[in-house]
Amino acid sequence: MSKLKINTFKDTKGYENFDDCGIYKLNNKQSIIQTVDFFTPIVDDPYFFGQIAAANSLSDIYAMGGKPLFALNIAAFPTEKLDLDILSKILEGGADKCNEANIPILGGHTIKDDIPKYGLAVTGIIDNNKIILNSTAKADDDIILTKPIGSGIISTAIKKGLASSKTIKSTIDIMNTLNEYASDKMYKYKINACTDITGYGLLGHLNEMCKGSKLTAKISFEKVTLIDEVITFAKKNIIPGGTKKNLDYNKKDVDFSDNYAEYQKYILADAQTSGGLLMSCPNENSEILIKSLNKISKYKSRIIGKFINKQNCNIICN
Ligand code: CO
Ligand code: CO
Ligand code: CO
Repeated sequence: MSKLKINTFKDTKGYENFDDCGIYKLNNKQSIIQTVDFFTPIVDDPYFFGQIAAANSLSDIYAMGGKPLFALNIAAFPTEKLDLDILSKILEGGADKCNEANIPILGGHTIKDDIPKYGLAVTGIIDNNKIILNSTAKADDDIILTKPIGSGIISTAIKKGLASSKTIKSTIDIMNTLNEYASDKMYKYKINACTDITGYGLLGHLNEMCKGSKLTAKISFEKVTLIDEVITFAKKNIIPGGTKKNLDYNKKDVDFSDNYAEYQKYILADAQTSGGLLMSCPNENSEILIKSLNKISKYKSRIIGKFINKQNCNIICN
């Protein structure tokens, strides 16, 4: 006979290593995983903004290897200043993305506010023995990234009217793509740790993995796939405030080799929206995992480096 145990703080997890979701153990087999995320528009088109915000919110569930169950909308909108059709378009984008993820939106709440904001609270479920944390990487694991980076720099270029329509479209496509497909593979190929790349950028999220796992990561700029035009804009110093803060916050833990230019450091620290998954995969499985990822995704997953035993810094960039 199974008895549902009341959770104590011992059974709830997720906060201690800045993991992607809070974990609430339901019973000996399964846990609820919970996340919430919302932000201000990063693209002009309200429908795409809704889609991207929803994909971004769902991503935390996928980063743990879980299945989303349902979501709630969370929105802010200047109801007296902007046409309500815009809000409808945002919500429609979110609903379509949840439809693609195969989950219902059960309700939500909108408040009046000067600047529009949108996102989801997402509830997911996972088998206790399949939970993939961000803090359990092992030495010698390959580090795999599943999407190109640079969406923060491109979003800033869009706001300044500098990005080409081709770059805008491809960046929206990247942010719009669910991490579901990559997440499905993680249990099968025995991934040791995973997180999704969002506001803290590649360096920030990797640094959390290193701290939690007590390891050092060694990555190289050349292996990281970038969105078109990112280098051009970064060289012109089109860098979002959040990205500058990320580099500032993380640089004490990073050893950049002497040939690194400032713009390359900013790109690695760039604050992402709905970025890809960052996986720590046992070396013997990484080839086959990447092959299988690249069969289903239009974005090439790549090994960008590896975890090694703890050195005197958390991340080595060469
Ligand atoms: Co996350
Ligand atoms: Co999050
Ligand atoms: Co309400």
